[in-house]
Amino acid sequence: MTILAIESSCDETGCAVATSLSGRIKIVSSTIASSLLIQSKHGGVIPEQAAREQLKSIIPIIDEALTQAQISHEGIDAIAVVEGPGLIGSLLVGVETAKTLALIWNKPLISVNHLLAHFYANFIDLGNNSVPNFPFLGLLVSGGHTDLVLCKDHDQIEYLGGTRDDAAGECFDKCARLMGLPYPGGPVISKLAETGDPKAFKLPRPMIGSKDLELSFSGLKTAVATLIEHTAVTDLNRNDLAASIQQAIIDCLVTKTLQALKQTGVNQLVVAGGVAANQKLITDLKIALKSMDEKIDFYSPPVEYCTDNAAMVAARAFFEKPVKDIFSLQANPNLSLRN
Ligand code: KG4
Ligand code: ZN
Repeated sequence: MTILAIESSCDETGCAVATSLSGRIKIVSSTIASSLLIQSKHGGVIPEQAAREQLKSIIPIIDEALTQAQISHEGIDAIAVVEGPGLIGSLLVGVETAKTLALIWNKPLISVNHLLAHFYANFIDLGNNSVPNFPFLGLLVSGGHTDLVLCKDHDQIEYLGGTRDDAAGECFDKCARLMGLPYPGGPVISKLAETGDPKAFKLPRPMIGSKDLELSFSGLKTAVATLIEHTAVTDLNRNDLAASIQQAIIDCLVTKTLQALKQTGVNQLVVAGGVAANQKLITDLKIALKSMDEKIDFYSPPVEYCTDNAAMVAARAFFEKPVKDIFSLQANPNLSLRN
């Protein structure tokens, strides 16, 4: 089976062609256009502008994915698209394009939850990897979401906990902005942190001691704002501050992930989302897993499949049924993992 998948939930326009043969999901082509450079000038994503860029990019990106895959629409068995969550204007571009293509090419249409799709970046066959089995604990860390879920099967997902306010990626982005660094903040902060001291600044780890699986990052951002306000520029070593922020975020994520593993008793951890591109997070999680009584298998996607892409959407689509009525599919900016 061959699927053409479209991702347009935020500031990236992605299209991928993927095949599934004997349960192995291979990406034949994956293209991406990003309005990141435009957005970074504003220190964040401007929804209307992101949607306008989606409109410009969507057809060329689909064309490019088909060309790279050396396939015409006749070779496609189904079209998949992200239904939500995301920015409504951006989502609409992908959803309406997918509906149109499904109608004129006479193909089934599959709708995909963007958050679930992130986990399926781990199901892609890279030639030398194993893929997760059920059940597993899923840690989603992206720009808009931070969730812990127990995945019992492809369609049996139990929400365990998550952030009450800012997402982990959002915290990286907001702290970077406070430090005068460009958007997105995660990659910039992690680069600066490489040569910084994570213990240099004492920053809070909100909710780290709570017995539940809830997280919170807005207090950390406020602490960084206060620190910057009250510290002389000469005393503010940017690398040390970046390392301290990164470590505070990671400590919260690692602690709650271990807690969730103990609570659920599962022996596989699957990490996904843009913040999973953070190598310090991956290293710290791996170290922490060694402290568990039982061996925990660990999965995280290659960096290019951590941040938004259409390959992960295609991977998830192989486990979804097509929609019954193409016309009824609507972009849903509020889709979540909670229900
Ligand atoms: O998954 P994603 O591409 O988009 C959403 O679905 O939100 O995640 C984007 C987020 C941004 O907040 C960005 O700062 C963060 O992922 N990010 C990182 C790194 N690379 C991207 N955060 C920390 N370290 C990184 N290396
Ligand atoms: Zn995402």
